[in-house]
Amino acid sequence: MFQKNISLRTLNTFGIAATAKQFLEVTSLETLEEIVSSHKDLFILSGGSNILLTQDIDKPVIYLNTKGIEIIDKNRDSVWIKAQAGENWHEFVCWCLEKNFGGLENLSLIPGNVGTSPMQNIGAYGVEIKDCFESLEAMEISSGEIRNFTTDDCAFGYRESVFKNTLKGQFIILNVTFKLTAKNHKINDDYGAIKEQLKIANIVDPGINDISRAVIAIRQSKLPDPKEIGNSGSFFKNPVISTIHFLKLQTMHPNIPHYALSEEQIKVPAGWLVEKCGFKGKRFGDAGVHKNQALVLVNYKNAQGKDILALARTIQKTVSQEFEIDLEMEVNII
Ligand code: EPU
Repeated sequence: MFQKNISLRTLNTFGIAATAKQFLEVTSLETLEEIVSSHKDLFILSGGSNILLTQDIDKPVIYLNTKGIEIIDKNRDSVWIKAQAGENWHEFVCWCLEKNFGGLENLSLIPGNVGTSPMQNIGAYGVEIKDCFESLEAMEISSGEIRNFTTDDCAFGYRESVFKNTLKGQFIILNVTFKLTAKNHKINDDYGAIKEQLKIANIVDPGINDISRAVIAIRQSKLPDPKEIGNSGSFFKNPVISTIHFLKLQTMHPNIPHYALSEEQIKVPAGWLVEKCGFKGKRFGDAGVHKNQALVLVNYKNAQGKDILALARTIQKTVSQEFEIDLEMEVNII
């Protein structure tokens, strides 16, 4: 049933040439149930957009590639859509936009699949998936049982969910249901870059498709396309520091961008910190820091996962020395 020694290069957006000792593409729930009944220690691979493979994988790799999008309910204002885990995220967003269903347009062009989107509560340009999330179904690996998770069950946070924390490695997300607007869409255009982009395009009263186009233009101008240069989006999370710490930094760097979360806590962009440490655009062999967005580490061609990890650790150390801030990795290191 399993294929032996399969390269995962095309199945992770970093383009790392790690090998799966045993590999199986799963396209149906029945096959997944069968596997889970006989194997308990599995490596579940989906869009491969948030992992850095630093070694070959000994566990059986399940490449979850289940497809299907369906409208499961609708009323005058809202529509509930269920998408299977293996659906490509951006294609799913486009499907919703074609039908004039609103809510996911700010999340256009994010690499990865539907099934992994709740794992790290993907977010961009003022929206996170938790804002449109209704529920998901996931299979418990130990029992094979399918459980329903509501928004509360998922414990979403900034690039966080229960699946990255207490339930890590225990469930396989099978499908996700979103509640979208069927009319009276809520337009999220507060993010500065979106406003600028709409102005350039001369759009004063944007619809959901205008927002999607603006987001796509911004992402294409700043972020490398994983099909061309391997990457996994933001490698680090934006750190939250105390206001006291921030004010100290601000005296030395008056232009430090920041976002107050409360009176005591301030979020600062990791990209700015990494750039200030001189890493932006730097290349070390085939591993590097992207020239337009210092938060994105890249594989120019043949970098190994451990090369990228070594670079990430050097960045963490330098940022810690310069700013007394510990950057946390957003990407899962395997
Ligand atoms: N900045 C720099 N130098 C850089 C990069 C950024 O100075 O090299 C500064 C910018 O000037 C700006 C600030 O940092 O003042 C914020 O930059 P940007 O708007 O590009 O957003 P970000 O905080 O770097 C976050 C998300 C992205 C998401 C964008 C837009 C995280 C870790 N990253 O990036 O998410 O697309 O906001 O909402 O929260 C991802 O998670 O993979 C990802 C791409």
